[in-house]
Amino acid sequence: MQKDVEVTLNGKQVTVGEAQTALDTMTANNVEVPSLCYHPSLGPIETCDTCIVSVNGELVRSCSTKLADGDVIHTNGEEAHEAQVLGLDRVLGKHELYCTICDFNNGDCEIHNAVKEMKTSHQETPFESKGYEVNRNSFYRYDPDQCILCGLCVEACQDVQVTETLTIDWERERPRVIWDNDTSIDESSCVNCGHCSTVCPCNAMMEVGMEGEAGFLAGMLPESSMRPLINITKEVETGYEQLMAISDVEASMREDRIEKTKTVCTYCGVGCSFDVWTKDRQILKVEPHQDAPANGISTCVKGKFGWDFVNSEERLTKPLIREGDGFREAEWEEAYGLIEQKFKEQIKKKGPDSLAFVSSSKCTNEESYLMQKLSRSVIGTNNIDNCSRYCQSPATMGLWRTVGYGGDSGSIEDIGNAELIIITGSNTAEAHPVLATRVKRAQKLHGQKVIVADLRRHEMADRADQFVQPAAGSDLVWISAVTKYIVDQGWQDKEFLKTHVNGMEDYIKSLDPYTLDYAEKVTNISKKELIEIATSLHEADTACFLWAMGITQHGGGSDASTAISNLMLITGNYMKPGAGTYPLRGHNNVQGASDFGSMPDRFPGYELVSDDDVRTRYEKKWEVELSTEPGLNNHQMVEAIHDGSLNAMYIKGEEMAVVDSDANYVQAAFEKLDFFVIQDVFFSKTAEFADVVLPASPSLEKDGTFTNTERRFQRLYQVLEPLGGSKPDWQIIQDIANRLGAEWNYTHPSEIMDEAASLTPMFAGVRYDRLEGYNSLQWPVAADGTDTPLLFKDEFPFPDGKARLYPVEWTKPIDFGDEYDLHVNNGRILEHFHEGNMTYKSEAISKKTPRVFLEVSPELAEERGVEDGTVVRLISPYGRAKVSCIVTDRVKGHELYLPMNTSGEGAINYLTSFHADKDTSTPAYKEVQVKMEILEVKGESPLPKINHRYGNPQPQIGVQVERKWARSDYTFPGDVVKARRSRSNG
Ligand code: SF4
Ligand code: SF4
Ligand code: SF4
Ligand code: FES
Repeated sequence: MQKDVEVTLNGKQVTVGEAQTALDTMTANNVEVPSLCYHPSLGPIETCDTCIVSVNGELVRSCSTKLADGDVIHTNGEEAHEAQVLGLDRVLGKHELYCTICDFNNGDCEIHNAVKEMKTSHQETPFESKGYEVNRNSFYRYDPDQCILCGLCVEACQDVQVTETLTIDWERERPRVIWDNDTSIDESSCVNCGHCSTVCPCNAMMEVGMEGEAGFLAGMLPESSMRPLINITKEVETGYEQLMAISDVEASMREDRIEKTKTVCTYCGVGCSFDVWTKDRQILKVEPHQDAPANGISTCVKGKFGWDFVNSEERLTKPLIREGDGFREAEWEEAYGLIEQKFKEQIKKKGPDSLAFVSSSKCTNEESYLMQKLSRSVIGTNNIDNCSRYCQSPATMGLWRTVGYGGDSGSIEDIGNAELIIITGSNTAEAHPVLATRVKRAQKLHGQKVIVADLRRHEMADRADQFVQPAAGSDLVWISAVTKYIVDQGWQDKEFLKTHVNGMEDYIKSLDPYTLDYAEKVTNISKKELIEIATSLHEADTACFLWAMGITQHGGGSDASTAISNLMLITGNYMKPGAGTYPLRGHNNVQGASDFGSMPDRFPGYELVSDDDVRTRYEKKWEVELSTEPGLNNHQMVEAIHDGSLNAMYIKGEEMAVVDSDANYVQAAFEKLDFFVIQDVFFSKTAEFADVVLPASPSLEKDGTFTNTERRFQRLYQVLEPLGGSKPDWQIIQDIANRLGAEWNYTHPSEIMDEAASLTPMFAGVRYDRLEGYNSLQWPVAADGTDTPLLFKDEFPFPDGKARLYPVEWTKPIDFGDEYDLHVNNGRILEHFHEGNMTYKSEAISKKTPRVFLEVSPELAEERGVEDGTVVRLISPYGRAKVSCIVTDRVKGHELYLPMNTSGEGAINYLTSFHADKDTSTPAYKEVQVKMEILEVKGESPLPKINHRYGNPQPQIGVQVERKWARSDYTFPGDVVKARRSRSNG
């Protein structure tokens, strides 16, 4: 345990934690010295030499000096001050001060603020150009002449993002930041996550959205005129006091025209939050904060730069009504009138169960709540679902069966703190990029062990300590074999099982078939490898199991998810920090869409519609009688349309015509609907089948909450006004409900949340005032606001408080027959989200990754004569897709990988079947086999050479400041000052 120690700071006694640095102590006691290369999220880097203080008479860098009992610190003695001035002076030799016309002059430039704090009026080391051109790509730019070589960007790239692109070349005459082996930004391994521009303390590494836009003067002239303007500025502003004063006035003028509004990312389930800087509707930059609970300073390319879609000219801004084969624009009243008329007619004709509703996992919790309320209380049907059916339901089922709650056991922080991470069926670095960085960092810096089981050699597989490639769809077998081996060795956590778990005997018996021999035969993972996995689990005190759609999207997806939870119970990896099961939720609010009741059999908080007490609670509040019958899930809805029992649908924000499996079958169903309402931001493929299309607002144009993969509620604030005539989804749903006779009068989403929380014990304490700014809550949330970062503490949510081992059997993947000889793995890529309706609107992203591609192994390429750019047709029993190939060893043998990022003729779901998980109806998207026809051998590669996948990362730990210190022209400022003193004394 750490003890406190007593130190003296500028003559005052203070108590500090044992491992605290001098800089931490000064900051805590409001004593300021410059610290240009220190970022609390990155720790000491020791490059800038501006933070020098005296500790026990020695001049040291305060950022890296840990304090001991009795230490005496002086920050403002003559020697310390002189050393600080010298450190800052050297910085100014590398960075030209032209603050008044600098786009970074927004009150938070560390150099500007240090010059002001130090009351610097001139510099001894003249600024000297480093002689390099400005480097840029479409996302950010690097100006070597403004770079102070602090290395924050390098540290962030190497050890936070862990893409390992940036280094500083300390050995060249004029050191600078370089990309890979000193190549251009675009030709490097850079994934454009934006960490470097986020942490840069000045304008050297800056988002291009800021350039010429943030400052009043900077935008007035083209770049070629900047030099004369800089010179004029420097001549007019002769002393730094004057420069600082004028530029401060300019900075404060910006406050009136630049808004900074907190939001939560609209893309994946990691739930990154950040401030969006806007000037009118223009997005200047996204700025993550260290106090953002899920991501801190981190983002991926989509969250940092993927917002162009919001201002796209393709946005729907008026309702559309079908007219013949096309659509015509209409006013809201007319569209609402038609919906009212058709819904009423349908209810009268065939009853409420002939209508169905689909919520969007892109929309807010409040909107999911209202959609299910509309369906249940206004229409009178439980036919309501959301797209978690397509990915997450099996994981939730596996957890409900075993541990009672369908959510991550802990937080992303726990994943970072675990001794062992097992990742299965998840391309985490691309599908959950920021979460993956926590694993990559923990492995790189703290020795976390990582095991990856996957068909494909993706980034996490490359980095893993152990990588195994199971046969497609065989995960339950290897997981159960590892579990059996652990039990056979007597390695199970006996104490934990005795106290907290039921069903041991039956479960152990159910493992009998899963011998190592059997598993080796079925999965292609050798006995040795299986024993290695079991041994790693046995040796680790804490382990987290991460999985995603590679597990869930199978005929036995729920059972495989159950097997994972069984394994973690057997090894006692629940009920402690740094352990547990983590089904990685896909969309930004796929967790919340189900949490808030858009499910056919469950109210918000997963309470059953068939439970009389629960239903009565809702009936009282909503003052209606509710259906006791569970409704159709979205998979069953398609069947019901085909069999004629479902005739009208209202889909909000889901591209169901392309993302549901067997797209041809789904689209044929939509043709049969009598009345079809689509509500979306863009005119989607699904909208082509609609009778009415309603223009909705994306997340930046509304208030609300999202719940991320950690069960974490976070607020999003409205950044922009709804574009044109579009409206936030909650307002549209309310308008439709009221047309149909409801009397809802919510004026703000907080009122919807208040109602939902009052009805749902699991969210009882969720209130907007508790979620102000970057505050968050992880469910369950008690009425007093106490939340639950660690999901299981003393017991599991079953009547006896014990978890349940749940025997499962392997379901073989479907066999398409020998004719279909290639397996098509499918999933996400980093740059595009799902079918790409938002990310393709970003010119910068599309330039790097313009279209979908098919990954073909070198072996198959040779066998079939395929090369980069070859156009092929894939044919399954369910349909055809046409796509261009790239040859890569990320896949092997007869395995293909087709990302899901298109809604065109290369869309994966023209190949998938309607076969589904037997327990949840989640489509078996991963069970696809095809035959391949070559259409054109020669063609343009679908992946330009400026894609990061062609880069050459340069891994190293941190910025390697020792190489700077080893330079012959470097002397520590403290030593310079001491030498000067001894010269003047001697
Ligand atoms: S990957 Fe690219 S954008 Fe991200 S920190 Fe590294 S250099 Fe910067
Ligand atoms: S570009 Fe990197 S090294 Fe240069 S000032 Fe910015 S963060 Fe520091
Ligand atoms: S897409 Fe996911 S990882 Fe990327 S910024 Fe958004 S929430 Fe974060
Ligand atoms: S802050 Fe200590 S050396 Fe830069």
